[in-house]
Amino acid sequence: MKRPKITVVGAGNVGETAAHWLASKELGDVVLVDVLEGIPQGKALDLLQSGPIEGFDVRVTGANDYGPTENSDIVVITAGLPRKPGMSRDDLLKTNAKIVTEVTEQVCKYSPQSILLVVSNPLDAMAYVAKQVSGFPRSRVIGMAGILDSARFRTFVAQAANVSVEDVHAFVYGGHGDTMVPMTRYCSISGVPLEKFLPANQITQIVDRTRNGGAEIVNLLKSGSAYYAPSAAVVQMVEAIVRDKKRILPCAVWLEGEYGISNLFIGVLAKLGHAGMEQVIELDLNPEERQLLSKSAEAVRSLVQVLGK
Ligand code: LAC
Repeated sequence: MKRPKITVVGAGNVGETAAHWLASKELGDVVLVDVLEGIPQGKALDLLQSGPIEGFDVRVTGANDYGPTENSDIVVITAGLPRKPGMSRDDLLKTNAKIVTEVTEQVCKYSPQSILLVVSNPLDAMAYVAKQVSGFPRSRVIGMAGILDSARFRTFVAQAANVSVEDVHAFVYGGHGDTMVPMTRYCSISGVPLEKFLPANQITQIVDRTRNGGAEIVNLLKSGSAYYAPSAAVVQMVEAIVRDKKRILPCAVWLEGEYGISNLFIGVLAKLGHAGMEQVIELDLNPEERQLLSKSAEAVRSLVQVLGK
């Protein structure tokens, strides 16, 4: 049986960290692509040489062109400019749309059967661009954001309730922006509803901090944005797909009427397995949740409209 081939486009912090975890978990052979000459080759060679020490054995290569990516099973797209302090994800819109368009064209040419995992920001709009440019079915274009936002939510809940993060289950719906919807009603600590552990005002603070989770890191780093948690999140998606795990994870998926939303990427729970996004999970939302989700969908739709799509 062929070993999975995973291309990571963009050898910046998110791309290189994703490559690191993909290799160390032996999820497949990794090809790191970037326009900067020597950078993906150098990082790939360095990572490969950590294999004898760390005990992983996969091929890791770097390239400036897409020839070496041919017939990839999964392509993780991280290419694009990161956010700078004071810059919203949306400011990145047009520049990154152009980059994601060019990347997607190349990826389609060399790996027409691949599954695209989009990480570039503004996330939901970039997933839209990748889907439009590739023409791939929705099972093969998925955006990474919900796992990241949920991980932040889970971290803050664990800290506030003074419990292990392993026992905190939570997911965030909506776009990867200020309108995201942490689903507090579905958050539990070992199956026990969150409100048994934390008062309402503290839950509200956690929701706000989650919504600003990306900006909090940008403000601390001053240059660049988060990369450990974003790359861990996309690696979890890759793992669910290459190991056909049928995991139910919050991801940006192309909706076709689910939740009353159509022709838009938005974060909801979905099943990930060998075919990619295998099923959208539809929950019964209460009126407040439904309203917050449609507000978030409107925010995403207005970005897509700016792109003239
Ligand atoms: C974040 C940025 C990368 O949420 O969107 O960290």
